[in-house]
Amino acid sequence: MGKLINGDDGMPAEDEVGIWAKEKHDYLRRYLDISRGTRKKWLGPRKAGATFIDLFCGPGRARVKETGEWIDGSAIAAWKISQEGGASFSDIYVADIDDARRTATVQRLRQLGAPVRELTGSAVDAAAAVAKAVNTYGLHFAFIDPFSLGTLDFRIIQSLAPLKHIDMLIHLSKMYLPRNLGINLASEESAFDSFAPGWREKINPTS
Ligand SMILES: C[S@@+](CC[C@H](N)C(=O)[O-])C[C@H]1O[C@@H](n2cnc3c(N)ncnc32)[C@H](O)[C@@H]1O
Repeated sequence: MGKLINGDDGMPAEDEVGIWAKEKHDYLRRYLDISRGTRKKWLGPRKAGATFIDLFCGPGRARVKETGEWIDGSAIAAWKISQEGGASFSDIYVADIDDARRTATVQRLRQLGAPVRELTGSAVDAAAAVAKAVNTYGLHFAFIDPFSLGTLDFRIIQSLAPLKHIDMLIHLSKMYLPRNLGINLASEESAFDSFAPGWREKINPTS
């Protein structure tokens, strides 16, 4: 994790994110925008609601390394696009194992008037907690954006999967796999153990 700096809004922000972060948020915004019609069906009086769940939320603001421009973090971008499309989320759940990052996102969302709920602890704990907290009949969207494969613990998916109406957008680092394949196949403590439990029984690392 990099260091936090003072953002252009005076709150803690991520320094030097790669320009690809803009593309990542673009996919997130596009999905949330095209799904607004469906979301509207869950919103309003006596409806079960539509939630956004961000389990690796970061601080909510970042400076792009290559250009120096300031961009919103995932939860802020998600809230804004939902508002712009006239289908604002009824609840936004955010988690980040780093207290300073999570608190900064919560603060930014509160300033925007978003219905934010804070989940403390790791993404694994947060996923278990959120699955119990949300309305089972609601429409849910989870954004799962870890830095590495090791933190993409399969228990996150297991906790969220029983929700009847849930979409998940998962950021899987394509470069991580080939770059760390050798070490993960060889080491006793492999990132694959949490990402794909039981992989050792299915794959022969020497073939
Ligand atoms: C790629 S960044 C998130 C960026 C954010 N989603 C965005 O697009 O603005 C990953 C975040 O995961 C957090 N993190 C690392 N390990 C974690 C864990 N086990 N549970 C929850 N958060 C974790 C880090 O503190 C970091 O803020």
